Amino acid sequence: MFKKILYLIICIPYLSIAQKAVVIPIETQNNALVLATDKDNRLCVTHFGKRLKQTSEYAQISQQYWAKDDNAGIYNAAYTSSGSTNLVEPALNITHADGNTSTELKYVSHEVKKQDENVSLTTVLLKDELYPVEVTLFFKTYSQEDVVEQWTVIKNKEKGSIELEKYASANLYFAADNYYLTSYHGSWAREMKPEETLLTNGIKTLDSKLGTRANLFAPPTFQLAFDRSATEDEGKVLLGQLAWSGNFKIDFEMDSYHHLRMIAGINPHSSEYPLEANQEFKTPSFIYTFSEKGKGLASINMHRWAKKYRILDGNGSRMTLLNNWEATYFDFDENKLVGLFKGAKKLGVDMFLLDDGWFGNKHPRNDDHAGLGDWQENKKKLPQGIGYLVKQATAAGVKFGIWLEPEMVNPRSELYEKHPEWVIKEPQRPEHYFRNQLVLDLSNPEVQNFVYGILDTLFTKNPNIAFVKWDCNAVIYNAHSQYLEKTKQKQSKLYVDYVKGLYKVLDRVRTKYPSVAMMLCSGGGGRVDYEALKYFTEFWISDDTHPLERVYIQWENSMFYPAIASCNHVTDWDKGSLKYRCDVAMMGKMGFDIVVDKLTPNDLISAQKAISDYNSFKDVVWQGDLFRLSNPWDKPVASLMYVNEKQDKAVMFNYLVSNRFEFNFAFEPIKLKGLDPNKKYKIKELNLYPETKTSLDEVATFTGDFLMSVGYNPDITLNRKSVILEITTIK
Ligand code: DGJ
Repeated sequence: MFKKILYLIICIPYLSIAQKAVVIPIETQNNALVLATDKDNRLCVTHFGKRLKQTSEYAQISQQYWAKDDNAGIYNAAYTSSGSTNLVEPALNITHADGNTSTELKYVSHEVKKQDENVSLTTVLLKDELYPVEVTLFFKTYSQEDVVEQWTVIKNKEKGSIELEKYASANLYFAADNYYLTSYHGSWAREMKPEETLLTNGIKTLDSKLGTRANLFAPPTFQLAFDRSATEDEGKVLLGQLAWSGNFKIDFEMDSYHHLRMIAGINPHSSEYPLEANQEFKTPSFIYTFSEKGKGLASINMHRWAKKYRILDGNGSRMTLLNNWEATYFDFDENKLVGLFKGAKKLGVDMFLLDDGWFGNKHPRNDDHAGLGDWQENKKKLPQGIGYLVKQATAAGVKFGIWLEPEMVNPRSELYEKHPEWVIKEPQRPEHYFRNQLVLDLSNPEVQNFVYGILDTLFTKNPNIAFVKWDCNAVIYNAHSQYLEKTKQKQSKLYVDYVKGLYKVLDRVRTKYPSVAMMLCSGGGGRVDYEALKYFTEFWISDDTHPLERVYIQWENSMFYPAIASCNHVTDWDKGSLKYRCDVAMMGKMGFDIVVDKLTPNDLISAQKAISDYNSFKDVVWQGDLFRLSNPWDKPVASLMYVNEKQDKAVMFNYLVSNRFEFNFAFEPIKLKGLDPNKKYKIKELNLYPETKTSLDEVATFTGDFLMSVGYNPDITLNRKSVILEITTIK
């Protein structure tokens, strides 16, 4: 059907005649980023924050700041170039065709295209007066969600090739009393550990140089609070992310006015990128939302945006599953798997997910030292192949999904024997392995075809495969491409072309298989960002499935990612209460990684109940709004809730996270959020363990006003370490 597109273009010509400043407000429902030209026709950021009621007043902002020295128009440049008179961290650094290293960008024109009622795209063209390089800044606004997606295109109009030394996506400028940066660090099974820093003079950098699995030590994701630390409900805070699945660099530089410059983009480390004449380079997107009402609203806005505009099938449905990784590791065969299918059915999940270890014949994948790259069923373990398993799973009443790690190769594999030239490695140095494996060179189109072919062959042979877990366990060591060498291209393109190659493969997969569910995994949460999530329905946030640790990891992930995308599995990492493990897994996309037949009779009933209860409210968790109520970093009880759009159904999750005697219970009510103050609600405890009764008065009713002003005590004690509450309106 023809879709009416509202199309509004404001084209403002080069500012040579009228010397009046050009003012470009980039507005969302509540916020504005204002760009304006200065007396030298440089494009500057003059405002970031609350949207003004009168648009005409944006023009007066720059006069309120004293910035008349040499650095005016440079510190607050909308895209800081390098060389000439610039002395601060640049967004752009070019070596021109004649070897000159200076660039000075001036405003040329801009246009605004309204794509629909909610989405607008503002583009601003900048040019150097001496060197014909064009830089176009793109700002895509999602008004209702207060989200801005920003990227840059650099076009070489010089006669010869130029070298991009630095090519950031976004360059923002903030004026506040103080700046509190929350960044994340971690490692395998310890992802998303938050750290809040008061930014001081100098540059604070968040970066990754790992190539693949780029988030292993730090994700390209952060919170920036202005004036003072933000809480869930108060404070000015920006949630930002560079949407790029490779090396990134985000700099926060305080200038001499105590203003903050932020520059986010691909990490320029070993990544000078040549641009032939007339070629252009599009940077990844920097995505942010800004809230003046704390982190809670910022998260809600980010989640709403991600579900509607970014995550594949973000407003759709998901499958509960049983995975065999922790249940069997590499030790399984056909019969064992078929037995597990029955367990999946008994449990009540939608799907069985076959993990690592099903492939390789000359070098069977019986542990993580061999077989990666040889994507043929292991004849000993699976004599009748994947097709047989799909049929058996269907007969057992569950769908079938499969694990792949298509970008990787073990040196002990037929693939390596046949194609050593496809592997990223320094030809003159010893090979160095990460989890006994090497990375395939995705800058090479032949390798892209091979990787695409793995999925295409699998789906062609087995059209009923319902799910893929796409893993990526190694970082890039010894970054060197034999393909780039052979084709006489610069080695410094490798890190960027690897990621571009990955996206090309994923584009092809999605063109042919637009809807098959895929989980993004990278030895846990080693790779997750909003560019990759265009292709994936969900992601594996960590291999750490200890429920207590999960409360914290899931809490932090919930700042940026909606529950529908966050895969949480019940495993045996912790042998304690199964109910607690299930309750923790429920605050996202629930799955299991256990041997069902080994459960005690009561644990089996409990797990079955967990799934049926989860099925009764999962739409609220997946499609509702999230409210974080009680922070596990500060309080003995972690508590959060999801509320549906109509505000007639909510689910509240409460978890004891302290072992200290004095904190072994919730001694005060927890204030709920997101309800309708005028509606009346009843509260019912869900997922009770067999033979236990609730300690709550389920007959009592409360107004939303009471629940949000006074709160509700879930009666957490040592005997009730986790409590799930369903809150529904009384008809
Ligand atoms: C790392 C993943 O995070 C695990 O869930 C599992 O799939 C293993 N890889 C398999 O090798």
